[in-house]
Amino acid sequence: MDSILVTGNGPLNGQIPIAGAKNACLTLMPATLLSEEPLTLTNAPRLSDIKTMTALLQSLGAEVSSLQDGQVLAMSSHDLTSQTADYEIVRKMRASNLVLGPLLARFGEAVVSLPGGCAIGARPMDLHVEGLEALGAEIELRDGYLHAKAPGGLKGAVHEMRFASVGATENIVMAATLAKGTTVLKNAAREPEIVDLVDCLRKMGAQISGEGTPTIEIQGVDRLHGATHQVVTDRIELGTYMLAPAMCGGEVELLGGRMKLVESFAAKLDVAGVHVEETEKGLKVARKNGRVSAVDVVTEPFPGFPTDLQAQMMALMCTAEGTSVLEERIFENRFMHAPELVRMGAEIEVHGGTATVTGVDRLKGAPVMATDLRASVSLILAGLAAEGETTISRVYHLDRGYEHVVRKLEGVGAKIERIKGQ
Ligand code: UD1
Repeated sequence: MDSILVTGNGPLNGQIPIAGAKNACLTLMPATLLSEEPLTLTNAPRLSDIKTMTALLQSLGAEVSSLQDGQVLAMSSHDLTSQTADYEIVRKMRASNLVLGPLLARFGEAVVSLPGGCAIGARPMDLHVEGLEALGAEIELRDGYLHAKAPGGLKGAVHEMRFASVGATENIVMAATLAKGTTVLKNAAREPEIVDLVDCLRKMGAQISGEGTPTIEIQGVDRLHGATHQVVTDRIELGTYMLAPAMCGGEVELLGGRMKLVESFAAKLDVAGVHVEETEKGLKVARKNGRVSAVDVVTEPFPGFPTDLQAQMMALMCTAEGTSVLEERIFENRFMHAPELVRMGAEIEVHGGTATVTGVDRLKGAPVMATDLRASVSLILAGLAAEGETTISRVYHLDRGYEHVVRKLEGVGAKIERIKGQ
């Protein structure tokens, strides 16, 4: 298994290009199942999660071609052969559950294994099921699979979600595009990836309004057609690299970054003493003074502070002046990076969903283990700011969500290399 060796060595300067959003691409790809005509995505990120979704769509009979070094995905669901998303693929990635809504809408039937994904909590699917049931689906859990049917087709309905789940919103919106009549989805998630999905669905002929607000209205249509869509910038990759100059000093411009994607995050960085400025090409980030100050963080659905940046923010707080409290409200088991950061000399106490971090002058390099996608990149950030060498093992987690991480960080002067495993 490969590992990553990082040697802490001072300020970072230059530019980092930000890729298309993994989480947007993972919901845009299943949207191809809604139409017989081709869907083409540009600005796709080159990640193992995208390969997993490609394999899943292909297992259903879809054609997926990866062009221009993986940045363009040309898909066609003209001749689908199966409506079953098999456990062997789904267990690798929770986002596989996003084929449920589209398959059900187009064929009146879908069988989808309950997913796996990051080991960061229980991650059930009850909110997806409740929403699709409100549209008239009958769903049963048998042998670890959700068996969904809508014999007379889906019908529009008014449904309020108990919690603004991102995936459930995506599944319900996609399903409702082909339902008979109007669906009003209340307490919907507002993430930019959902706005991007709706943009694409609209290009395919869907009639949707209210995306980006808590109420989304979908007027069902008989069929959707083909489209070409550019995947929105990855706000989590953007936020992650914004922390590199915040931790190490220097000035880095994140190409393609926009403030509206990371407003709550940038506001926290501002309080901590990190200047973020929108430029023509992206976002420029630099520390205002020497060391950053401690700030408290509570993770919340968008537009709140993203849970997917909590681990990285913890890495920053490990070297801040003062004590910060990080409260994780989205996932119940998302502090697995804390004991690894402690191995690097961080002072962190975890009680339930709250971590209290007392900043130290400097972290120290150590061998550490990546436990999930965002945890793994938080250890890279910590290693960049630490004294000495940090070796991060189990980097396959990283390959799920960060393309060319070594090349991108080397480009701004970091000392980082990938060591091939046996
Ligand atoms: C998406 C993102 C993930 C991010 C998360 C929260 C993708 C591919 N992944 O995941 O990176 O961390 O949003 O911003 O877009 N829940 C239920 N029942 C359900 C569904 C969810 O209880 O039916 C709970 C989950 O266990 C979790 C919380 O709701 O505690 C948030 O989950 P959700 O918003 O659905 O996240 P995902 O769509 O899985």
